[in-house]
Amino acid sequence: MVKGGIYLRRLRVLIFWFCLVCSSANLAAEESIVEKGKYLFQAAGGCGCHTDTKNDGAFLAGGRPIKTPFGIFYGTNITPDPESGIGNWSDEDFIRAMTKGLSPEGKHYFPVFPYTSFMRIKREDLLALKAYLFSVPPVNQKNLSHDLILPFGGQYAMLFWENFVWSPKAFKSFPEKTASWNRGAYLAQALAHCAECHTPRNLLGALKTEMHFAGSKEGPEGELAPNITPDEKTGIGDWSKVDISYFLETGMKPDGDDVQGLMGDVIEFGYQHLRDKDLDALAEYLLSLPPISNELQKDSTEISKALDY
Ligand code: HEC
Repeated sequence: MVKGGIYLRRLRVLIFWFCLVCSSANLAAEESIVEKGKYLFQAAGGCGCHTDTKNDGAFLAGGRPIKTPFGIFYGTNITPDPESGIGNWSDEDFIRAMTKGLSPEGKHYFPVFPYTSFMRIKREDLLALKAYLFSVPPVNQKNLSHDLILPFGGQYAMLFWENFVWSPKAFKSFPEKTASWNRGAYLAQALAHCAECHTPRNLLGALKTEMHFAGSKEGPEGELAPNITPDEKTGIGDWSKVDISYFLETGMKPDGDDVQGLMGDVIEFGYQHLRDKDLDALAEYLLSLPPISNELQKDSTEISKALDY
């Protein structure tokens, strides 16, 4: 009887310690999903379009204008504020927005929000991203309505776009290539969304896949995004692997020039925090692309127009 009591007490003590270890392991796991999400957020370029840095806007609370040929879009509030941000979104709401371009109310987002790339992010990575976003301070700030040239708020145009123009392609890994090549491909095509700026679009706004990374005269904000295929003459064929990873980390080009514009933003708010291994993987992937010859000088009238400012 007495002996049984001792065993029972020991068992209780054991269970107590077991639960304590389990719950602290759980806490650590929760912390690490936020940490993981933060890293993925940086790999995605830091979502700078959602912070109005120029006007000292609050982190991720929206309001930043983005000029496009279809009008001016304003980055939205993606802080966890339940009223004006995404605080009420379920996991599935978030995943649908990121992969299908649909709001929880079923509204179609314009592909200025690069879900055309984000749709390739793995589910577990999307959930980590959401965990990170839900860990930043909530800010109550209403979204501004976009200033579009499209009629009916553009929803009919978007229905057409999503059904007839957009042909989503899932991420495909190639087991015969190295693990780092596949990692670089995943980062470039899904999270870092390089194509959204560096791949030219057709008149309907769809990316020309046969011109993958060959540069675009009319990137977001009307900026020219250069040809980043390894073509010797018109691309970055004379950059080494180290040149590329150093550039993605520091914004410094091999000729000593500093990066400008939106590329500066994605480096500053995001890519610069990537681990060396991931920067190298991105460089390995870029250098493996088929070189595409695409000369992108803005024509002289555009250059003189730009000089007027
Ligand atoms: C939001 C738009 C945007 C995204 C996303 C983006 N870039 Fe850029 N990138 C630009 C612009 C604009 C420039 C031109 C900047 C300049 O010349 O100073 C540029 C310049 C570059 C250059 C310099 C090329 C040269 O010839 O000078 C490289 C290399 C580059 N980007 C690689 C990448 C890679 C790799 C990714 C994804 C990991 C990426 N970019 C994502 C807009 C973008």
